[in-house]
Amino acid sequence: MSPPEVDNSSMSGSTSTTMSSKSSPVTSFYAHKSIFITGATGFIGKVLVEKLLTHCPDISKIYILLRPKNGQNTRQRLEDFIQCNFFTSCGRLDVSTLRSKISAVVGDITVPQLGLSEEHRQTLIDNVSIVFHSAASVKFDDPLKECLDFNVLGTMSVMDLCKQLKKLDSFVHVSTAYAYCQLEETEEKVYPMTVTPEQMLDVAKWLDRDSLASLKDAVFEERPNTYTFTKALAEQYIKENRQREDGQGLPVAIARPSIVTATWKEPVTGWVDSYNGPGGASLLGSLGIARTMCFNPNNTADLIPVDIVSNALINIAWYTASHPSNDLKVYNITSGNVNPISWYQYLEYGRNMAIEYPSTRVVRPPAKVMTGKGHSPLSNFFTKWISEVLFAYLIDIILFICGQKPMMVRVVKKMHHAFDLLSYFVRREWKFPCNNILSLVEFMEKTCPSDRAIFYMDVREINWKDYISDCYMGFRRYLMREPDSNIPSAKRRMKWVSLAYHTLLIVFFLSVGMMVYGSVSLARGLVLKMIY
Ligand SMILES: NC(=O)c1ccc[n+]([C@@H]2O[C@H](COP(=O)([O-])OP(=O)(O)OC[C@H]3O[C@@H](n4cnc5c(N)ncnc54)[C@H](OP(=O)(O)O)[C@@H]3O)[C@@H](O)[C@H]2O)c1
Repeated sequence: MSPPEVDNSSMSGSTSTTMSSKSSPVTSFYAHKSIFITGATGFIGKVLVEKLLTHCPDISKIYILLRPKNGQNTRQRLEDFIQCNFFTSCGRLDVSTLRSKISAVVGDITVPQLGLSEEHRQTLIDNVSIVFHSAASVKFDDPLKECLDFNVLGTMSVMDLCKQLKKLDSFVHVSTAYAYCQLEETEEKVYPMTVTPEQMLDVAKWLDRDSLASLKDAVFEERPNTYTFTKALAEQYIKENRQREDGQGLPVAIARPSIVTATWKEPVTGWVDSYNGPGGASLLGSLGIARTMCFNPNNTADLIPVDIVSNALINIAWYTASHPSNDLKVYNITSGNVNPISWYQYLEYGRNMAIEYPSTRVVRPPAKVMTGKGHSPLSNFFTKWISEVLFAYLIDIILFICGQKPMMVRVVKKMHHAFDLLSYFVRREWKFPCNNILSLVEFMEKTCPSDRAIFYMDVREINWKDYISDCYMGFRRYLMREPDSNIPSAKRRMKWVSLAYHTLLIVFFLSVGMMVYGSVSLARGLVLKMIY
């Protein structure tokens, strides 16, 4: 067991009950309560912590599960988390508030019982009322053995802990809308599976990695990867094990976001901290690195801004506690059924912004977004190898000649790997009804309209064009770390890059034309010689 290495700074729950907590059922629900969050350092987790501490200032404590990572112990990681750019630059929370409200408990979701020390476990058992389980491995290509530990064992341990909490009001498990992606429509319910989580964990104990991986076809039910399979198993576990020993049901709900993207409104527009998912693809397109992808431009891109997800989690926890029920409620936090945007629109809005507000790192003008049914496999093949791979070698040669470190081939290889993993999801389309979230929006509209505004989660209000424009500016600011002040110089650079690229294209096509003409003439000469 790990020693209680990390601070447990004095319980400094604010005694100043704010006006907002008096008038807001959601805020008052969180007042003077302690929360346990797994995955707090992740994309969704950070936004959740920020929103909770900003709008529910009377929260007693947020305990976050933290593991040592990359040579850093949890004490250092907690300090980095508190001081991270996201909290400080958004300007709504100061470091002293964060320090007084957040405590880390050392643990790891892949270790039985979360690897908690007795002391930390007892602290959670005595104090925590609300649990958000967001930690997971979100890699699509993790080996099954590891993925079972992350996503299934982790959920089991959190559930077991929840059953011991003396004051549990609600437990929200973060799943994914794609858990049943083998189906064209995923309703807000847990579907049966051919295997149980226990069976899979049992088999994983006895089989080596390769033998376990070979079970894929038999148990995945046509899911494309270990991620979606293990997230579905975690849901099964929750469904089947939500009774306490005394027969009482746990106040648990499952939240299923679709593709989580940058913030829509809060704490700033367009904030994102990860290149994962379609954001990274669109960024690479805007820099002129990505030119093609196997996808269907007309299909719906089911995007969901991360601030909507975190608000939904906050509201779901509140509603689950205030409306106890024996039914397990599942919330699809999705947009496609009620406010759809196509992949074409998503990429085209981003491309327009990339032309208007280019990055200084652009390597060539962004390619036109495909229309209709997208690239044919043949055109995709040639674009990939000539316009991406060959071009990357050319850039690396130029970098090498200029005395700089070649890197473009590495970037393009990584990009192709990521596109391969994403391709299943951008070539298909799903229906994700989200009636439970819409009903909750309506309920809040009637009973607490100010909370509905503060903890907004109505995707029908998103104007995608404006949102994607903000997302692009967010990529520029938070991922590329480029200040808006360099836009004029970036525009000048784009002109030169464009001129150089089009000159290169002309030279390339002229050379290919001359080579073809030369070969045809040579062949014609040979044929004539043979005849005469
Ligand atoms: N992002 C999406 O598009 C999306 C869509 C649908 C559903 N979801 C679900 O939303 C949840 C959060 O996703 P995210 O995008 O925020 O993921 P993320 O940014 O990759 O964060 C993952 C979080 O899990 C923690 N974690 C991973 N392995 C751990 C371990 N062994 N022990 C303790 N903590 C561990 C990470 O902590 P470290 O800092 O220690 O690595 C991090 O805080 C996941 O359950 C995911 O399945 C995400």
